[in-house]
Amino acid sequence: MVKDQVLQALERSRGARMSGAQLARELGVSRAAVWKAIESLRADGLHIDSTQGGGYCLAAADDSLTAAGVSALLRTDRLGRDLVVLPETDSTNSAIKRDYAATRHEGFTLIAERQTAGRGRLGRTFHSDSGTGLYLSVLLRPKIPLEQLNFVTLAAAVAVCRSIEALCGLAPGIKWVNDVLHEGRKLCGILTEASIEGETGCIDYAIVGIGVNLRLDRSALPEDVRIIAGALADFTADVPRRAVLAARLLGELEAVYDSLCAGDTAGLLQAYRSRLCYLDKPIRVLAPGGAYEAVCRGVNDAGNLLVERADGTLDTLQSGEISTRLSV
Ligand code: BTN
Repeated sequence: MVKDQVLQALERSRGARMSGAQLARELGVSRAAVWKAIESLRADGLHIDSTQGGGYCLAAADDSLTAAGVSALLRTDRLGRDLVVLPETDSTNSAIKRDYAATRHEGFTLIAERQTAGRGRLGRTFHSDSGTGLYLSVLLRPKIPLEQLNFVTLAAAVAVCRSIEALCGLAPGIKWVNDVLHEGRKLCGILTEASIEGETGCIDYAIVGIGVNLRLDRSALPEDVRIIAGALADFTADVPRRAVLAARLLGELEAVYDSLCAGDTAGLLQAYRSRLCYLDKPIRVLAPGGAYEAVCRGVNDAGNLLVERADGTLDTLQSGEISTRLSV
């Protein structure tokens, strides 16, 4: 489709103008077809600047999120190569499970401008307004033992951190299991869900859902979320465009996921531990049997959190939640 090709060419040459003739030559289409594609992209809401004789370019303020735009920036082999961007869905995790998991290959990615029923861990809601965040889920088919499934979640947290480090120059940390924080504020949540084959006990598929807050309208948030939520815009003027962040995230996730699938859990654990928040700090453990105070003692080789109780006993947490003063 000429429209997608024009968008991809403009996305790749961001910052530089391309004339209609140049675009037509590069894409092997007529100038009239280029002009028609530009008008159609504008009608879709994309901000495309043009000057007489100077050519076209995507405006700096353009934060459009389209499959063609993200694809133009992708550096992956598999993740995101089959990509759908929806204006709205209930939850990208639920939508993959419901509509795509049976037919799509590993790497299929679903992004939504907005989620009407975004889901977080432990049955929580993930607020997903339009234009304020990136809401993305990836379908994976990891050939790893079931007991290593939690490593996929750790991999996603590391990938998110690396993306934010590279694009924003911030140094976020990870609150076990998989909240990405900066200065105690939650920038990103990750929800990994899996389907297990009943007979073999093998992983059929996993869905890694990632929600990153780019800008937040705090007044729209409920009180309990408002006190912990943060957004990239709170900490940097370099808030990436959503398409750039999506492409980077998929690239980082593919790299860390591939090494995990190749058996390199040590590299993943090292990257995870170096970003772990609250090491040797007091925390509150929210366990099914009740909450208790403890000190965070790090993550073991299985990815479980080690916490020390007041009487010196060491607990190994496989799941659950920890909190500090700010976070719940
Ligand atoms: C959490 O904070 O507990 C996890 C939040 C995960 C949110 C992401 S947004 C994309 C994907 N779709 C969902 O419904 N949830 C995840």
